[in-house]
Amino acid sequence: MVATGSGYGKVILFGEHFVVFGLPAIASAIADRTIAEVKHPLGREVLAAVEGPGTFVVHGKGWTLYDNRPETPGYKTEKAVEQKRSIELMLAFLNINASKTPISILLGGELKAASGVGASAASCAAIARGLSGLFGLELTDEKINEVAHEGEKGYHGTPSGIDDTAATYGGLFMFKKAEPKNLVELIRTKTPIEVVMGNTGITASTTEVVAAVKQRKTKEPEKFARIFKEAETLVHDSRKALEAHDLGTLGGLMDCNHELLREIGVSCDKLETLVDIAKREGALGAKITGTGQGGYMVALTPGKGLQERVAMAMEKAGFAALRTSIGK
Ligand code: MEV
Repeated sequence: MVATGSGYGKVILFGEHFVVFGLPAIASAIADRTIAEVKHPLGREVLAAVEGPGTFVVHGKGWTLYDNRPETPGYKTEKAVEQKRSIELMLAFLNINASKTPISILLGGELKAASGVGASAASCAAIARGLSGLFGLELTDEKINEVAHEGEKGYHGTPSGIDDTAATYGGLFMFKKAEPKNLVELIRTKTPIEVVMGNTGITASTTEVVAAVKQRKTKEPEKFARIFKEAETLVHDSRKALEAHDLGTLGGLMDCNHELLREIGVSCDKLETLVDIAKREGALGAKITGTGQGGYMVALTPGKGLQERVAMAMEKAGFAALRTSIGK
């Protein structure tokens, strides 16, 4: 018996970090996904087929993870402890005792295991779906999202929920953390809009970066009050620009969001270089996406021609570039 599940990667267009503090944000799932195959322990011959030279293996209580996802070098090693904690949290949440019913988890799919692209949330949603299938739990998407959110806590204690929501449901949406239920509103666009995600190749610790932002907020309450106000306005304005297909305005708002992220201290030299390359090549807007201090940035590049031009310039400068799109 084997059960398969998948989870989408994501790009945060507006409001990362601020969303942790209850402000609205806008994110989109991207087409790249992580696929999880969950099964009872692998026989030797099956193992030989899945365990290649690049397979990253993590052992837990009664479970083993065979990770064949493409990666930013070093990501899996750096995240191994968090990955393990995440799987243990999801198993406990689902009352699955893997010591009694051992399982193997195989991770694959085209989504790169990297910071800034929702890799942890995508793997959590994929594993949650696989576990649901293998144990006949018939979990709804809402429940899968809850399990994936629990798994995200393994990576950082206080996830806002935006990444696991994108990983579970897909689509382009506005998100706001709320009790008892997060606010999620789908956003429609006239056409899909091309973007480029530039990868710094640096793995960031979301736990550490989020904690550092919290500390700075405590030290500089007035500055942060002003930034939060601007960040909230940006989200509302950008939603309107997305719905009106006003891409010039949208790009300008992305640039403003990037400035706010710089001000809260989550940029780094390579992110700035990638933003500069994107702007120089004609991107309508460019900003950090996700945690920052490494990971990815995103550039607004409507049309295949502009997208290719920006992506190629990043590649020429030695960075990996992901060509994808948002909305529809
Ligand atoms: C990470 O992809 C996005 C952050 O806003 C953290 C979160 O929302 O949980 C930095």
